[in-house]
Amino acid sequence: MTTDPSLDAAAGLALPVTDAAMAERLARRMGEVEEALSEHVRSRAPFITEAASHLMDAGGKRFRPLLVLLAAEVGDTTDSDRVIRAACVVELTHLASLYHDDVMDEADLRRGAASANARWDNHVAILTGDFLFSKSSELTADLGADAVRIQAQTFTRLVEGQILETVEPAPGEDPLEHYLDVVAGKTGALIATSARYGARFGGASAEAEEALTKYGEIVGAAFQLSDDILDVASDSAASGKTPGTDLREGVPTLPVLMARASTDPADARLLELLDADLSDDALHAEALELLRRHPAMEQARSYVAARTAEAKALLSVLPEGPVREALEAFADIVADRTA
Ligand code: IPE
Ligand code: IPE
Ligand code: MG
Ligand code: MG
Repeated sequence: MTTDPSLDAAAGLALPVTDAAMAERLARRMGEVEEALSEHVRSRAPFITEAASHLMDAGGKRFRPLLVLLAAEVGDTTDSDRVIRAACVVELTHLASLYHDDVMDEADLRRGAASANARWDNHVAILTGDFLFSKSSELTADLGADAVRIQAQTFTRLVEGQILETVEPAPGEDPLEHYLDVVAGKTGALIATSARYGARFGGASAEAEEALTKYGEIVGAAFQLSDDILDVASDSAASGKTPGTDLREGVPTLPVLMARASTDPADARLLELLDADLSDDALHAEALELLRRHPAMEQARSYVAARTAEAKALLSVLPEGPVREALEAFADIVADRTA
């Protein structure tokens, strides 16, 4: 198996790619995306460039642009410039959403660096996010009216997901269903669009584009759910974020919702803590410790693995070979994330 180290570095996901030519092409194209991105975060004002480059330079897995490039491997215009442009569109949209998300979540660490709200303030973070959304929209305009519509619909879903995360489920709505709806919007939508753009601008058939879009939607949801698991399970050295942030903010993520469903009397203390104000450091640490050891963590992991299997089954419309294998590997890596 050939695993190109520069691709690993670009993607941060250690994606195994068996076909050497494809690995070389993906690594080269990720390099082109990176170069283009550093141009797209520039403003006429040096301070805005500094604020907009801050998180771009801090790192990130570049998971969405990589998916654009991978999906473009399915078609016959893989090398189109439009694929690179589409990859920049999705990363810029994602990056912008991170600036806003850290304000919402009052997070002070992102990509191993100070979040923009911590480094400057909420105003700077929000307006820099807006600046990046605008940059992304400018680029999308070059891809045609359909791409603009898709981008707008994607952004609508992402924002709806972010807002719905802050409200209680509707009366009678199952909390887990509500949460899965949130996740589909805030994360699934943009990852589905990453796969759609790659297929479309890479010249794949309409059938392949549909299958890849559905695949992206499910992989995206699985990605967010494994992020939830990592929020509980990992330390900040691995994730570049502060562990237990969701828990502290009272965001009812997958393991929390699964633990809450427990009727085991031994879980009484955990359930009590999950309903308490976890801004208190000692209570937060106790809840995190109990949750880490709870079977809900394993249950959440199994759920993610099942979704991943569902996503991979959608790839059966593609011919067998290295591209399909890479997309399968991509889904597996998402399910089994460690960072
Ligand atoms: C973070 O996304 C926000 C989620 C949707 C979970 P990533 O985990 O892709 O963040 P970066 O781009 O690698 O920093
Ligand atoms: C990320 O949400 C989703 C978007 C940025 C749209 P989270 O709040 O769950 O992600 P992290 O943990 O901050 O990366
Ligand atoms: Mg957050
Ligand atoms: Mg959030």
